[in-house]
Amino acid sequence: MNSPATHSTVPSERLLARLEKATSLCVLTGAGISVESGLATFRDPGGLWEEYSPADLANEAAFRRDPQLVQGWYQARLKQALTAEPNEGHLALVELEKFYEPFLLVTQNVDTLHKRAGSINMVELHGNIVDERCTDCSKPPVDQVFSEDGLRCCGFCGGLLRPGVVWFGESLPMDPIERATDAAISSDVFLSVGTSSIVYPAAGLPLLAKQNGAYVVEINVEPSALSYAMDEVVLGPAGDILPVLAAHMRSFNNREELERITNR
Ligand code: OAD
Repeated sequence: MNSPATHSTVPSERLLARLEKATSLCVLTGAGISVESGLATFRDPGGLWEEYSPADLANEAAFRRDPQLVQGWYQARLKQALTAEPNEGHLALVELEKFYEPFLLVTQNVDTLHKRAGSINMVELHGNIVDERCTDCSKPPVDQVFSEDGLRCCGFCGGLLRPGVVWFGESLPMDPIERATDAAISSDVFLSVGTSSIVYPAAGLPLLAKQNGAYVVEINVEPSALSYAMDEVVLGPAGDILPVLAAHMRSFNNREELERITNR
């Protein structure tokens, strides 16, 4: 049976020791990691699902019913995402990536901030908001035209353009979910950062990691739906906690390197 997770506002000595010993690290992120970049989450007060529900916007039927609303909402989010800058949390993950092989960052976010921060080994489970495609010919919009009622359409075939995100009711792209599953299963440490852990299959990844022996840690400003299953919950903003982990690994590796040189 699981013993209850340790809750603390600072990473425990146990977590730091696990990070030192680990060879493989898998990190799952959600909307919370982009809060300090000025982007709203979905389910927190004032979040994206407060004004509209996923049923209004994030599915194929909603798009067919009211393409103006859906295109407009995603265009506004695209603008916000492209105006935002990666924060200390995103940057700390770029640094952590250097200390592990294998490393995989699995994000549910569509804002492209991890990529822009410089993360390399990563998958976007829910696609991204930048890469649009035509709903008819599936081509990316090299050319775009406007219909009479102002809808953005494909320059090749005239079909409606849609964002390259995964909507509710759609399957996740095969390669990202397979890579994410493999990485979770083989991880020594698994970090679940800034996610409410209620949307599957992403929310199943920490559980899979735990079943396969990983030390599983949640970093969040408040407990999530899966806190009970964690080995440790670190309560605080991702932009404060992740840099502590990266700094610890930097000094640990510097010490190791110094020892290696002086013992040569
Ligand atoms: P949610 O809005 O469900 O959850 C955001 C989480 O971030 C909450 O648990 C917050 O407590 C936490 N949080 C807020 N500020 C934080 C901070 N500074 N540092 C750390 N954590 C913080 O967003 P997701 O879990 O990402 O899917 O949502 C999952 C999916 O549901 C999304 O990818 C999207 C949505 O519907 C699709 O659209 C398919």
